[in-house]
Amino acid sequence: MDKYTIQQIFTKTYGHAPKLVVRAPGRINLIGEHTDYNFGYVLPGAINKAIWFAASRRDDAAFHFFAADLGEIFVSENGETVFQKEKSWANYLLGVLSEARKDGYNFSGVNLAFGSDIPLGAGLSSSAALESGGMFVVNELYNLGLSRMESVKLAQRGENEFVGMKCGIMDMFASVFGKENHVVRLDCRNLEYAYFPFDAPDITLVLCDSGVKHALVDSEYNTRRAESEEGVRLLQTFDPSIQSLRDVSPTFLAEHEKALPPVVYRRCKYVAEEISRVEQACVALANHDMKTLGQLMYETHDGLQHDYQVSCPEMDFLVDEARKDSSVLGARMMGGGFGGCTINLIKNDALPAFIAEMQTSYQHKYGIELKVYPVQLANGTETVDG
Ligand code: GLA
Repeated sequence: MDKYTIQQIFTKTYGHAPKLVVRAPGRINLIGEHTDYNFGYVLPGAINKAIWFAASRRDDAAFHFFAADLGEIFVSENGETVFQKEKSWANYLLGVLSEARKDGYNFSGVNLAFGSDIPLGAGLSSSAALESGGMFVVNELYNLGLSRMESVKLAQRGENEFVGMKCGIMDMFASVFGKENHVVRLDCRNLEYAYFPFDAPDITLVLCDSGVKHALVDSEYNTRRAESEEGVRLLQTFDPSIQSLRDVSPTFLAEHEKALPPVVYRRCKYVAEEISRVEQACVALANHDMKTLGQLMYETHDGLQHDYQVSCPEMDFLVDEARKDSSVLGARMMGGGFGGCTINLIKNDALPAFIAEMQTSYQHKYGIELKVYPVQLANGTETVDG
């Protein structure tokens, strides 16, 4: 997908040229997993795979959304935002627009076409790109005056309230705020952020797509949130100033281990350690110390596998295989868990051999063709000149 293709698709669908073309990328996360809703740090970046939108205003109040990859059109004649059971992809757009209206933003009809080259179901946040990208489009078309951060927050609310997934803010934030060749550290407590150059010309960021998405992903995700919150409630009895796991150091937690059910303790331990790892990772990045960064990524995987327990055998296998290869500096499962991609830091010259070996061993073990995506860090959501 590119701007010419989406422009052509739009023109063919609606009989006139679009007013606006917008690119909204998918995201990776270098480190800082399951820390966003615990008000810790994350270190994501936007990638060179994106959803492309073409759009124009309408004279009436209707929404016409054309999902080019599916060949499906969704129409709401009066611009109502009602949850859709069938064309469920439309909920990502309807949700954020409905939240924007609640905040008093006024807009009427929209013709929209979108198409994507973000692999679906791979955990690269195509749904977040659709939500925040859709809001960006309507903001531009109707000059609503929304800041980038406001559109991110509305997108998260759309997902939480309308779609029903209690995700944190990271995915939408990364899609909107990404910067070429940079990752961005977000403090999920006060939403302050800082860019870090990913300055490693001899290293490629590589995603290995496990090709699986186990059931119960969303319910397990919501359970982890609840377990983290239970940990906070119990720890507050020792220190009432604790608002979230961000306020809990690994040492404080160890001192109060006995006060928590064992499972809750392990969840909290992972989160407290992971928040500290993000800080260490930023120091490593600033020092161009990719070896330490890679080591921290392996530690994150261990925590996600054994303490937070959101990995799965396929992703553990991919990380274990990567560990055997000395040209891989670090690897871990990425995103919410239970499937999707692993993220790997690999020396450029070893890449072809790595891909071949991983594909052979994965095929042999699981009978699945492993898709491997080298990715570049790209700009966040932006309008693209027609
Ligand atoms: C999903 C959620 C994010 C974040 C990650 C885990 O991608 O949408 O908000 O919690 O899982 O880090």
